[in-house]
Amino acid sequence: MAKHRLHYIPKGKPTEFDLRIMDLERKGAIVPSCDLIKTPEQIEGIRRAGVVNTGVLDTVAREIHAGMTTLEIDRICREYCADHGAIPACLGYGGFPMSVCTSINEVVCHGIPKKKDVLKEGDIINVDFTTILDGYFADASRMFIIGETTPDKERLVKVTRECLEVGIKAARPWCDVNDIGRAIEPYAHQHGYGVVRDLTGHGVGCKFHEDPEVCHFAQRKKGMILVPGMVFTIEPMINMGTWKVFIDADDPFGWEVITGDLKPSAQWEHTFVMTEDGPEILTY
Ligand code: MF3
Ligand code: CO
Ligand code: CO
Repeated sequence: MAKHRLHYIPKGKPTEFDLRIMDLERKGAIVPSCDLIKTPEQIEGIRRAGVVNTGVLDTVAREIHAGMTTLEIDRICREYCADHGAIPACLGYGGFPMSVCTSINEVVCHGIPKKKDVLKEGDIINVDFTTILDGYFADASRMFIIGETTPDKERLVKVTRECLEVGIKAARPWCDVNDIGRAIEPYAHQHGYGVVRDLTGHGVGCKFHEDPEVCHFAQRKKGMILVPGMVFTIEPMINMGTWKVFIDADDPFGWEVITGDLKPSAQWEHTFVMTEDGPEILTY
């Protein structure tokens, strides 16, 4: 008989929970490795990182205004983090030079804070921060509208938020992670928007980016089963026009992602732990 090499190898005597996963794997499902299923202690650590991360974004929400630079946003985030004994995960990650991503209008994500980027009335900006606290990671982003913007940009921000909510509803315990994008994509398309395919959500918690990849578009192929105890982000990037994106040639660091048609883009992100009842948000 052929030997089956299982990916899921419980430590010690398998529990009912382990047996359920091993059975799914034998039936051909893609299952997480044990390290992707967090222990209660790890989940508490990630939850504490999430509290600091929410404090960072709440502080930005109070202080953001027209006329400020994105460099000042970086300082606000860095200081809040330091005051709470935490570290900004972005700083130095793959050569990223700052502590937070600030992505204005046509910048899809990974915008680098700069002294020359002054926020102006009508801008829409995504502020994406990841906290490391006691070795645990929590990752979230929000959109901010500077003053009043146009109805079409306002609608993009609102529908993108709804895309995150549609994704949350689709994320059920023991579902296929690709069910998330299968729900988000048609919702975005109903509104005439493009769904970014080149960047995805991800497992998170003990590292910045872990498996699984969380697609926001409709993958045909099956993805990993979302088992209770897994921690991951959902972070749809939704474009007013084309779904295609590029790295901005003007960015010497090679990080900033912009839309192919230079139309605006929006994104909302939370970190979740999957429970037996569905995803619980750890970044509120
Ligand atoms: N926070 C982003 C995410 O949601 C990743 C930023 S990586 C950085 O996954 F290096 F640009 F900071
Ligand atoms: Co993320
Ligand atoms: Co993020």
